[in-house]
Parts: sequence; structure tokens; C-alpha cells
Amino acid sequence: MEIRLKRLLNIGFGSLIIMGSIACNNEKLTKHEDDLETKIDSVLSLMTLKEKIGQMNQYSGGWEVTGTPSDIDTQTKLEKLKNGEVGSMLNVLTAKETREAQEVVMTHSRLKIPLIFGYDVIHGYKTMFPIPLGESASWDLNAMEKSAQIAAKEAAASGQHWTFAPMVDVSRDARWGRIMEGSGEDPFLASKIAVARVKGFQGDDLASENTIAACAKHFAGYGFGEAGRDYNTVNIGEHELQNSILPPFKAAANAGVATFMNAFNEIDGTPATADKYLQRDLLKGEWGWDGFMVSDWGSIAELIPHGFAKDRTDAARIAVEAGSDMDMEGRAYEVGLETLVHENKVDVALIDDAVKRILRVKFRLGLFDDPYRYSNTEREKSEVYTNENRDIARDVAKKSIVLLKNQNHILPLDKNIKSLAVIGPLANDKDTPIGNWRAQGEANSAISVFEGIQDAIGDDTRIFYEKGVDLGVGERSFLAPLKINTTNKTGIESAVKAAKLAEVVVMVLGEDAFQSGEGRSQTQISFAGFQQELLEAVYAVNKNIVLVLMNGRPMEISWSAAHLPGILEVWQLGSEHGHAVADVLFGNYNPSGKLPVSFPRSVGQEPFYYNQKNTGRPADNGEVTFSHHTDASNDPLFAFGFGLSYTTFKYSEVKLSASTLKPGETVTASVALTNSGNRSGKEVVQLYMRDLVGSITRPIKELKGFEMVSLEPGESKTVTFEITPELLQFYTANKKWETEAGDFHVFIGSDSRVSTFAELEYVTP
Ligand code: BGC
Repeated sequence: MEIRLKRLLNIGFGSLIIMGSIACNNEKLTKHEDDLETKIDSVLSLMTLKEKIGQMNQYSGGWEVTGTPSDIDTQTKLEKLKNGEVGSMLNVLTAKETREAQEVVMTHSRLKIPLIFGYDVIHGYKTMFPIPLGESASWDLNAMEKSAQIAAKEAAASGQHWTFAPMVDVSRDARWGRIMEGSGEDPFLASKIAVARVKGFQGDDLASENTIAACAKHFAGYGFGEAGRDYNTVNIGEHELQNSILPPFKAAANAGVATFMNAFNEIDGTPATADKYLQRDLLKGEWGWDGFMVSDWGSIAELIPHGFAKDRTDAARIAVEAGSDMDMEGRAYEVGLETLVHENKVDVALIDDAVKRILRVKFRLGLFDDPYRYSNTEREKSEVYTNENRDIARDVAKKSIVLLKNQNHILPLDKNIKSLAVIGPLANDKDTPIGNWRAQGEANSAISVFEGIQDAIGDDTRIFYEKGVDLGVGERSFLAPLKINTTNKTGIESAVKAAKLAEVVVMVLGEDAFQSGEGRSQTQISFAGFQQELLEAVYAVNKNIVLVLMNGRPMEISWSAAHLPGILEVWQLGSEHGHAVADVLFGNYNPSGKLPVSFPRSVGQEPFYYNQKNTGRPADNGEVTFSHHTDASNDPLFAFGFGLSYTTFKYSEVKLSASTLKPGETVTASVALTNSGNRSGKEVVQLYMRDLVGSITRPIKELKGFEMVSLEPGESKTVTFEITPELLQFYTANKKWETEAGDFHVFIGSDSRVSTFAELEYVTP
């Protein structure tokens, strides 16, 4: 593959010609990187301090670059672009507008260093894929890589160079609104998904016009805010940070993610944006990562309200020393850095390091070859929101659905069922399926569940639709608080009438798209508004209910789990939502999803996760003095890793190739898996381990491997996992990653509740 690096930088007092054509194969890779560094150094050597600081400055768009500036601030921005005082912009949309903004820089600025355009392409650009938490329920790494690839292709065709995704924050708290944007509660699964998404966005050549730079965020600890409240204080120890939070970031760094974003929260008194250990010592030092760190929106200036910096200049000093390379809309670097350098309060070497990192990503994206290559209106027309992309979205969507309950085989439904009622505020909702982080996804553009069902059933089925009640009322938008309907429940009566007429009721309940997402933490995770009342009224007249649950977080659905025969967790599945739901409802697709988060019995149990510690009092001693809540069982309502199929699977006992493992060796653990039902189906076989005694206390179980297996009825396969000493590593009391000698339990099963195990000992000389 050829990457042409060819650039003529025209500058007022001389010119620098950088030319090259480098074959990007393995042998030449090192040379390529050496050449790249030479080019970066050449550019840096031409830059004034002001221009260097300019590269570290990022503005949000949403304004007419070429039109009449609407206010002085916009005018200032434009002037700064012309002066080379802006390195990046976010939220400048479409091929046309990105081209216009780039033209300002390429025409007027002295060094003509191209802008890098960033945007939150979280689960699709215009073709919307399932929200990341939902997609994670597929446990299908290829499908997730593919969805990121399509998102990148559409974004790149529309002028974007860079997405602020994937969010790789592990979260164990269903109250946190942004749990929808991650991959759940497990660091092992999150690490695998992080890599798949980075590969999907970036491909193997950042300079290709179909790929964009990815961003691992939010570094670090953002998913652990107290009480699940967004932006809140994080109080965790070093071991929790290392063992539970950092692994997906490390995996993303190893996979070559181009950028990182830091976080709004503090950890144990230090705001993440100001954390030198995390950003400079660990990520850029120990891990040897060479991309750049963008701040979160305004997070450098937020060091002031954190009580960590006295003003913007002080905030700029702290952030640059800590290793934040680019200031997203914080206006701290532009205000403070120049003076700080002139007064010898900030070493210019720190600025140079940041600028080199930013230039490196711009070079890798090929922006110095052609700053306009991504801003192509023709490609934007032909490659965005195509039927082909929507087909791929439907495929990922159906794989993300989790069958939680299927009593008496109420599912799949017969396509020729005589009568069906489709009821609920979300049943014909065409907007919630595209989620909260919807990029260019058009409002009300998804296939609703009702539409999907209509497309799937035969002509002879009588179908009744009733909304029952409204859920969200009034304005629904990214920044507006959502108002829940708590006044009008007049529609319940007609819903009950419809339910009486139908053989089966598909109830579509859950959350509005704007109940989860940034700034949307909740203290309650049960059905909001009149949904529970509607459900119970329908149940009173017809018990054949399949609950289709649409939501961005685990919900408290104990009543439904106890009473309803069928429950499908469908999340918010994107553009093809309703078709994917119908695929599963009518058995065109046999559900294969597994929960990436535990469902609690009650919100009071949050944070709630399977890989918890044992405590000193784990066992039910028949008295009150063991670790539990007196009003709820410690067992999850639905466990991490859980998901049913229309067929059944039988597991044999776990077999180990040896009962001891030594350094440098591998032991295999295997089971025979049989499809014991009468449909072909897919099962995600999961390997868990428990380290019985450690230099720090260890979780009662940890996911260590998984594999998706397809089996025909009656077919068996042996599934084998390799256990190496590296797989058993953790951040020990010695403050390093290592494997400790001792005993381990090895479990292989269908979800995190698996209880039979084989014993393995790790022996060191
Ligand atoms: C979010 C980031 C996002 C950024 C830019 C912030 O509020 O925390 O995740 O990438 O805004 O939109």
C-alpha cells in the first residue's frame, strides 16, 4: 500500500519542501516513522510560539465560516483561524463547511497547517447503529468493528477526520446516564471491544479516505462518579484504578488509537485533566503511546471550579504540565500559555511535545498531502445513509438483542398469528431508537417497533396499536432536560381494550432516548411516568405479554420479570431498530446477545456488578450479620453475560490439560458444547476465573475469555481456551502487573453465574 507524503509548505521567508513516497510495508515501517519524525521536526522548527499554542487550541463550530459572523466572538474565531491560532475544530459539519473552514486556514495562515476536524461519531454518523452499550451485548467483535468502520466511512465522506469515540469507561452504575455510551461493567470485555472499535474507525491506514482517527475516552475514572451522578467526584484506590478502569485504555493504546481524551472528574483529589501520573508518566511514558491528548469540553478551565487552579492561566500551566495537549473549548491555553512560557513558568519543551503529537496525527491522516481530501461533497452524497449501510446496521442491531425470559416458548411469535396488540409509548417511537448521541442521525428517522412488526407479519393478522400513555413530553433535544408525562393517562383505557382483542400483546416500554446520555443520571431506574400502571392494566386483561424493553441503562424490572412470560432487551438499536426487533420476535433471527451489565433487583443495590469482592462476610448465615441488603437478594435479577436463545445449550464439565501451570507454559481449558434444542443457534461461551488468595483481595470471578459458537440442532463442539500466566496477571501489592503463585478456579459457562469449576495451580520456581 502506498502512502504519499508530499507537501509544499509555502512560508513568507523561505520554503520547506517535504516530499516522499513511502511503501507502507513492515520493513519500511520504521523508516516511514523516522521520516515522519523528521517532517514533524521540520514543521515545528518553522513555528512561532503563538503558532505552536494555536495548534493546541480547539474551537467548536456551529457557525458560518464564510457567511457574516453573527457576533464578535465568531469574528474573533475567524481571525484566529487566519492567524494560525487554531489547530482543530469540532462540530463543523458537512463536506462543504469543513472545506470552507479549511480554506480559511490554507489561504490566510502563514504556515498553512491543516485543521483537524473532530465530531462525536459515537454509534454511527447518519446511519445509526445500536447505542454502544446495546451493541456490546452482541459480544460480536467483528460486528462492532464493522459498525465503527461504516460510521468512519460516512463521517470521513462528510469531512470529518476524527471521532471522539470509543468511550471505554467501565461503569458499574446504572444510574449514570453515560453507561449507554460504554461497553458495560467488565474490563476484559471492554478491552476487547475497545480494540474492535479502534480498528473499525481507524482501519490499518489512517490516511485512507474511509478511515478516521479514534479517541479513547475519558481518561480516567469517569464511569465511577459517586452515586452515578455525572461529573461527580471519584474516590477509588490505586488498585481499583489499575485493575478495573485502565485495562481498556491500555488495550486501545496498544491498538494504536490516535488520540485520548481526558475526563471531567477528579480521582482522590486530583482532577483527571490535571493528572500528571495518568497522562504523562503512565500513558505517554510507561505505555509509550505517541498520539495526542485532547481535554474534555472545557475541562482545563474547569480546574477553576474544581478548586485546583486559581484562574485560566494557572489552569493552563497545570494542564500542560500534566500532559493535556489540546484544549477543547476551555480557552485556557490561548489565554495563558504564551505568558507562562515568557515568564519561564512553563518549559517550551512541553509545548513542543504537545505540538509534535498533534502534527503526528495530522501527518498520519494524510492532511499534509491534501487538507481537503475528506471534504468531498460527491462522496458525501453517495456514501452516507446508503441501503447497504442500513443493512449492516440491521445486522448488528439484531445481534445486540438479549432474550431475558421466554416462558412456555411465547417467543418466537407465529408470523400468521391471528391477532396482535402492540402497545406502549415507545411502540411507534421513531426517534428514541437512534439514541441520545445521534450525530447526523435525523430525528424520527428510525424504523419503529410497530413498523417493523407490520413489515414482518402476514396479511391475515389483525394488528392493534395503542400508545397508551406518553413518556417524554415537550422539547426533546441534546441539551434540554426531558420532561416526563405525569399528568395524562387517558390512553390506558383504549390500550386495555386493544389488549382484550389480541392473542398476544407486545408491550414496548423503557426509556426515552433523552433519559440516558451525558448529564442524564437518574436516581430511579424503573419505568418512568405511567408506564408501570399501563403495563399492569394490560396484564389484568391479557397475560400473554412480550415486553420489548428499550433503554440506555440496566433497569429495575423486578415486577415484569416475575409476571411476564416474555422479555426482550432491545436497547436503542439505531436506524433499523424495528426491523431488527421483528427479526427476533418472529424468529428470523435466533437471539444470541448476552448482557454486558448486571441488572439489579433494586436501584438501591447500585453500583452493582458481578466481579465484586467476596468481603469478610459473604455467606448467608441465617442471621442478619452477613453482607447483604435485608430487602433484596444479592443475586442479580439478570446476570452479567446472561442471555437466552430459542434453542438450548448443554455444557460438559470443564477439562484442563494440566492441573498446574508454570511460567512460560500454557494450559488449555475446554468444554463440549451441545445444541440440545431444535433450532440452530449461537452461544457466547464464557471463561471466568477466580484467584483464591492474592496480595490484594481478588474478585469472586473475572471474565478471561469468550467465544461465539454456532451450532445446528444436536451438534456438539469442543470449545478451548488457552490459559497463560499473563492471563492471570493483575496489579498487585507490589504496584506492578504480575502473576502470583497460588490456586485458581476455572469456570466455563453460559453467564457469570456459572458455578462448576476445575482447579488450577500456578506454580513459580
Ligand atoms: C463529552 C465528550 C465529548 C465532548 C465533545 C463532552 O461534553 O464529555 O465525551 O466528546 O463533549 O462533544
